[in-house]
Amino acid sequence: MYFSISLKNRHLGYPPPGGYPRKPPMQTPAELAQLHLATYAAQPAVYSAPGRVNLIGEHTDYSGGFVMPAAIDFSTLVAISPRTNGRFLAHSVNFNQHVDQPIADLLAERSKTWTDYPAGVLWALRERGIAVENGFSLTVVGDVPLGAGLSSSASVEVATAFAVLGTLNITLPLTEIALLCQRAENAFVGANVGIMDQFVICCGRQDNAVMIDTRFLTYTLAPIPPTVRIVICNSMVKHTLADGGGYNTRRAEMEAGLHILQQHRPEIVALRDATLADLEKWGSEMSPQSLRRCRHVITEDDRVLAAVEAFKAHDLARFGQLMHAAQLSFRDDFEASCPEIDLLVDLAEKQPGCFGARLTGGGFGGCTVNLVAADRAAAFVEAMRTGYFNATGITADIYTSRASDGAHQVPLP
Ligand code: GLA
Repeated sequence: MYFSISLKNRHLGYPPPGGYPRKPPMQTPAELAQLHLATYAAQPAVYSAPGRVNLIGEHTDYSGGFVMPAAIDFSTLVAISPRTNGRFLAHSVNFNQHVDQPIADLLAERSKTWTDYPAGVLWALRERGIAVENGFSLTVVGDVPLGAGLSSSASVEVATAFAVLGTLNITLPLTEIALLCQRAENAFVGANVGIMDQFVICCGRQDNAVMIDTRFLTYTLAPIPPTVRIVICNSMVKHTLADGGGYNTRRAEMEAGLHILQQHRPEIVALRDATLADLEKWGSEMSPQSLRRCRHVITEDDRVLAAVEAFKAHDLARFGQLMHAAQLSFRDDFEASCPEIDLLVDLAEKQPGCFGARLTGGGFGGCTVNLVAADRAAAFVEAMRTGYFNATGITADIYTSRASDGAHQVPLP
């Protein structure tokens, strides 16, 4: 079934004439500023926020656990100028769409489209008592692949928050900005996501992964060994985190299991506090799904802590084994992988120089993250493209990314 569907994509051709662009071209900050000026007759400032890839630690960030993402060199740019008429105007270059909404009524104007991300941030800032009521004009463009598990949504949110706060000359701690953006996504957009994406997009650092303790909202940088490359393979299977995707369901199943453990051990505030021994004792009182979701989260926390140590020791083989175990747990216990992703992981693990591969992000499609020896990366990319296309008929987008800095204002010439 799955192969017969994907074979329809054969018309995409392999390889396309002229080879593969590394990523789609987008406006430079100066070009975006020009476009903004032409659209709104106002000189803007421009802000940038990256996407992210998660090396290990999936679905642990809403149970007080550990994650290890990195910001990547794909980004959202937001050009912004203040208004005086209480309206929120935004133009998306990617979607070629304009929006014009009253700031006082953002909630009522929710549209279930891309505009909910910047509008949600304005709403969250307003709820936080920040004076956004005069309004803003935004021009938004990005090259973070959409619905691919690389946090295009959080990238738009954080770029918007930086842009609005910068325009109002307000400085907030990065943690608070991340929490505000998460609130926008939870309460305004309706996706019950954790804090990982917004946090790393605020705090990312070039050439480093970021180990985040999501209970205390603290982080440590983990330098990525220079001998290794992060290769991201996009299965081209889209996922969604808002209602309709499996994210909220998985979270609810996990929380149902947590409540059972809490009845026996009230000191368990979040799954981070629980152990496999707890699951052995009381797991039979849970639904089989809840038991598996909880087991994934509890074991995944241990894997992240072990992965940090492996990175510190430059033990990439060990790091890769942990990625492998994480993928099996994600596939079998969390049940949020899909056949295309499993195939990409299998293919990757057979390639010389690949230390580890796993699905990255919320699940149900999207991308795999692969740690590959630098001198094997080019051959790896070609082998993955050919192998995936031959098996599915799908032409995967494959990116070799560098870990990047977090959100910032972009100086204009
Ligand atoms: C999405 C969410 C994150 C996190 C991951 C899964 O990216 O936005 O908060 O839960 O899924 O690890």
